[in-house]
Amino acid sequence: MAHKMIPVISREDIARRVAELGKEITSHYQGQPLVMVCVLKGAFLFYADLVRHVHTPLEMDFVRLASYGSGTSRGNQVLLIKDLEVSVAGKHVLLVEDIVDTGHSMDFLLHKLAERGAASLKVCAFVDKSERREVSLKVDFAGFPIQKGFIVGYGMDYAEQYRELDAVYELVPE
Ligand code: IMP
Ligand code: MG
Repeated sequence: MAHKMIPVISREDIARRVAELGKEITSHYQGQPLVMVCVLKGAFLFYADLVRHVHTPLEMDFVRLASYGSGTSRGNQVLLIKDLEVSVAGKHVLLVEDIVDTGHSMDFLLHKLAERGAASLKVCAFVDKSERREVSLKVDFAGFPIQKGFIVGYGMDYAEQYRELDAVYELVPE
C-alpha cells in the first residue's frame, strides 16, 4: 500500500522538547541515582538524546516487549522478550518509551518492575496518545501529545521501516 508522509514534528522541535524533558527529569530526581530503561526498539533515538540532558547519576538498561498483532494495531497480550540486566530493587526507575497509546505495554512493564521492588517507577514517553488509552496510566514526562494518526521516524517504525528518519511524520494511506 502506498503512503503519503506528512511532517508533524521537526528535528528542531524534537531537540528543543527533549532538552526540556531532560531538565524536568533532572529537577525531579534532585541528584538521586536513577535507572533509565529504554524500551526497544522504538525509543532508541529518543533515549540516546534524552540521557544526555539528564544530570543525575544514571544506570542504563534496555528491555524489549512484544505484543500480539502487527501493523498499526496492537494486541493486548504483552510479552517481555528481552529483560533487564540490572537489578531495580530499591532503585528509582524511569521507563523511556516512544509512544504510550492504549497503555497496555507500559501497564505490563510497570507491574513487572513493581514486583521487583523498585523504589519508584515513572514513565517518560516521547509521544502521549492519551485519548486512546484503554487502561488508566499516567505518563509522568510526556514529549508531545498526539490525538490520532500513525506516526513514524525518530525511532518509530511501520513494519520496521522509517526508524532512521530524524523528524516525525504521519503515515497517511493514499
Ligand atoms: P500500547 O500498548 O497500545 O500503549 O502500545 C504502544 C506501542 O505501540 C508503542 O511503543 C509503539 O511501539 C506502538 N505504536 C503505537 N502507536 C504508534 C504509532 O503511531 N507509530 C508507531 N508505533 C506505534
Ligand atoms: Mg514501542
